[in-house]
Amino acid sequence: MADKIPLLTPYKMGNFELSHRVVLAPLTRQRSFGNVPQPHAILYYSQRATKGGFLIAEATGVSDTAQGYPETPGIWTKQQVEAWKPIVDGVHEKGGIFFCQIWHVGRVSNTGFQPNGQAPISSTDKGLTYETRGDGNDASPPRKLTTEEIPHVVNDFRAAARNAIDAGFDGVEIHGAHGYLIDQFMKDGVNDRTDEYGGSLENRCRFPLEVVDAVVKEIGADKVGIRLSPFANYMQSGDSNPRALGLYMAESLNKHKILYCHMVEPRMKYLGEKVDSLHSLVPMRKAFKGTFISAGGYAMEDGNKAVAENRTDLVAYGRLFLANPDLPKRFELNAPLNKYNRETFYTPDPVLGYTDYPFLETMT
Ligand SMILES: Cc1cc2nc3c(=O)[nH]c(=O)nc-3n(C[C@H](O)[C@H](O)[C@H](O)COP(=O)(O)O)c2cc1C
Repeated sequence: MADKIPLLTPYKMGNFELSHRVVLAPLTRQRSFGNVPQPHAILYYSQRATKGGFLIAEATGVSDTAQGYPETPGIWTKQQVEAWKPIVDGVHEKGGIFFCQIWHVGRVSNTGFQPNGQAPISSTDKGLTYETRGDGNDASPPRKLTTEEIPHVVNDFRAAARNAIDAGFDGVEIHGAHGYLIDQFMKDGVNDRTDEYGGSLENRCRFPLEVVDAVVKEIGADKVGIRLSPFANYMQSGDSNPRALGLYMAESLNKHKILYCHMVEPRMKYLGEKVDSLHSLVPMRKAFKGTFISAGGYAMEDGNKAVAENRTDLVAYGRLFLANPDLPKRFELNAPLNKYNRETFYTPDPVLGYTDYPFLETMT
């Protein structure tokens, strides 16, 4: 029966034999106290793991300047790497494939999150407004990175990728979406540089592609994915020609032969709000030669349709997977879904809304 459901058909992603196409999207949960992953994440991720299922860990900071939210995990210290190990082991014990999303927030931060209370770093010195940040954490005016400093940040991504492999992860997803540092370089609505990292499309994509290159050289292209959201303008990070940007990146990524490109649907303009759009990811899907993952506002039916129509290889589910640890099973049985509770998305309390969403079997 399951073989009739497109999302539940097997797929070979590079060296990984996936048994289905329902991917756990990266989900920040803010329960990693002091930037160190906690034991409660072992249960959280293993609940969502299946044999041959693909999981992407929550956004994880690459350095001490990368953070911009309370209690988000990092992967730049030995302690963090050690803390990730049992979490990764838990997923592997269930037969899951687990990538770490490596992240730098850039200007989506404030001096309170930065070492020595320094200004957050970015492609620009233009700051975010408080209203845009919108989660009660102010954003401090950023400091524009000098040309000479950029290789150091590239190196932070490289080192984080190495640490992820040391922690046991099967690979990394470079977080190039949603208005964070990499996106702040790519988008012409933010990047106002006059050096070789600003201006033309090629220049704006230089930093992202240098990160890709460094990570590929460190851990191998077969273990590297990237997440991009060319159409989004989250965190005031919009582009005047998102289609050209998406296509340029898809074609450039081919040269690096990375494993996958994970793109956020144009309809996911604001995280969580489903807005239909005339734009489409199909041109990028066609241009990119590796595995393509789509995300943003998918339910079962349109996920199946996207796979059946070959508009994507895999579909990443965020809020539905957050609230339904056995999401692939529920799709298989066409079972009702638990509703997600937005109130507990980011609350540091480990118990509520984290590992307590019921499985089908336990429902009465
Ligand atoms: C609680 C929450 C945390 C998120 N954290 C991340 C993150 O760490 N990295 C990321 O790239 N996207 C993040 N997103 C976006 C999701 O990965 C996903 O793209 C988004 O929720 C839309 O998919 P959905 O409609 O299936 O939920 C987050 C979304 C939510 C709701």
